[in-house]
Amino acid sequence: MDQTKERELLGIELDILRYPDPILKKPTEPVSAFDEDLAGFVEKLYMAMRAHDGVGLAAPQVGVLKKIAVVEYEGKSYTLINPRVLEKRGELEAEEGCLSFPGIYALVKRPEWVRIESQDTEGKTHVLEAEGFVARAFLHEMDHLDGHLFIDYLTPLKRGAIRKKMMKQTRGTSAEPPRAARRR
Ligand code: NI
Repeated sequence: MDQTKERELLGIELDILRYPDPILKKPTEPVSAFDEDLAGFVEKLYMAMRAHDGVGLAAPQVGVLKKIAVVEYEGKSYTLINPRVLEKRGELEAEEGCLSFPGIYALVKRPEWVRIESQDTEGKTHVLEAEGFVARAFLHEMDHLDGHLFIDYLTPLKRGAIRKKMMKQTRGTSAEPPRAARRR
């Protein structure tokens, strides 16, 4: 189904917060209630991620300070609830972006391989292993749950340049007001 249509049918309009929204730097609470509300919220996260052509989205990016994130890559979906890293190996530098930083990409070093543990919407625990791109996506989303952003790995100079660009975006130089501004 057309994704815009899908969103309309479900009545979804989850706004994605943009840097430097202070919510993105806040820590999150673990999920303890594995109920219908949780399942519904996870579904909305997937929808918002797909609507923005993302490969991952974390709850704080839509203003919800809970340990919930989703990743979707090459047709595989990963729901990460209360995730934690069990083991990591290697190091790989690759270009990374984030839905809270539209149009911004930077090289970031991450472990090449990870084993993580996380829960699904029913509270069942799963151990997942991933390498390369998916490992990077897991770690990027898990960082969001600790209030960490990919630009935190960059030099202060690069981070400053990105901040400047994002401030310009948020002030709104285009005809369409940015999402973060519309929220208020
Ligand atoms: Ni991100």
